[in-house]
Amino acid sequence: MSKKKILITGGAGFIGSHVVRRFVTQYPGYDIYNLDALTYAGNLANLKDIEHHSNYHFIKGDITDAKFINELFHDYSFDAVIHLAAESHVDRSISNPLDFIMTNIVGTVNLLNAARDIWKNKLTSSSSGRTEEGLFYHISTDEVYGSLGETGLFTETTAYDPRSPYSASKASSDHLVFAYHHTYHLPVVLSNCSNNYGSHHFPEKLIPLAINNIKNNKPVPVYGKGENVRDWLYVEDHARAIDLIFHKGKTGEKYNVGGNNEWKNIDLIQLLCRIMDKKLKRPEGNSAKLITFVTDRPGHDLRYAIDSSKLQRELGWKPSLQFEEGLEKTVDWYLANEEWLAQVTSGEYKNYYRQQYQTL
Ligand code: NAD
Ligand code: TYD
Repeated sequence: MSKKKILITGGAGFIGSHVVRRFVTQYPGYDIYNLDALTYAGNLANLKDIEHHSNYHFIKGDITDAKFINELFHDYSFDAVIHLAAESHVDRSISNPLDFIMTNIVGTVNLLNAARDIWKNKLTSSSSGRTEEGLFYHISTDEVYGSLGETGLFTETTAYDPRSPYSASKASSDHLVFAYHHTYHLPVVLSNCSNNYGSHHFPEKLIPLAINNIKNNKPVPVYGKGENVRDWLYVEDHARAIDLIFHKGKTGEKYNVGGNNEWKNIDLIQLLCRIMDKKLKRPEGNSAKLITFVTDRPGHDLRYAIDSSKLQRELGWKPSLQFEEGLEKTVDWYLANEEWLAQVTSGEYKNYYRQQYQTL
């Protein structure tokens, strides 16, 4: 029997690289195709350890290019898609919303159209969505639900109320994914996850930025008063949830994924400072002196918190790590991978593709 062909988009990014690694190593019976445009957030060095596996294939390409995407799907006849490619940073969406509309909305529609086209003979209202019939798995965020007050949790039935250009573009793509399910019977599944942290995280996001700045004795910018709350999940726990939902999730359903791990930004940064002092053998309290309160993000959502009980109850998933343990592992990774960090911050990582993949 021929191998299943699984397309993973955005596999050179933070979460995507963990998902690609997991699927390539755990499922030798799948051929994994990583489609990535290698924007500033895409770094093939994230996958250095698995790039020579025989079931791993990299394709450089942009999901906003409809013609390219259609041809790709016809050439490869993918059995399933796990879609992570996105513009993902809220601050960038505030300064340049159009990139988010193009990749997150138009790019997703291009993939949906191409999947619908190659699976058209299999699409019926009873499609189970297992890979024999195609499955389109869309990865989304808890930010589509908007902002919570001091109490309450987002459930799968919480009404969408996105408030940044990023979350509005992701909400739009979520709606389109379900529209293709209801209108064309495209077998889809969707998950909305809280903030991830872990290795290979681009240092524009809070945790890797703070680690890098503390290491280099630079100010750690905390927006506003640092009172905003996020629910943090270790990235490998997210990749494990994606694996489970891909294989066992019900077609046409959505699942919330979260760490049940809420932290005010300022408390998180204080904890990180204590861990960094310990790891760098600095006197206690040294790193915390770098904390600098700066102008708040416009429209800054106060609190996100996820109820992941559906995923826990129906598919038996739960987070594996306590936050402090996960944060220590993350700090250890960044301190042990200075070259990765230096190449990302200098921009040199952009040469990796040329060196490894373009031999001419
Ligand atoms: P990331 O920014 O680290 O990576 C995105 C990847 O997509 C990069 O490799 C980039 O090169 C690629 N990409 C961007 N535009 C593209 C295009 N037009 N065509 C092809 N590839 C393109 O993002 P991430 O943090 O790994 O997030 C992955 C997905 O998970 C996103 O859909 C995001 O919305 C979602 N998500 C992220 C978080 C989080 O905490 N980071 C939480 C929940 C959900
Ligand atoms: P971020 O990592 O950008 O993720 P998101 O906006 O998707 O939640 O930010 C996490 C939180 O940290 C958010 O409340 C904004 C805040 N933040 C800072 O206080 N300083 C920073 O330099 C950054 C990047 C974020």
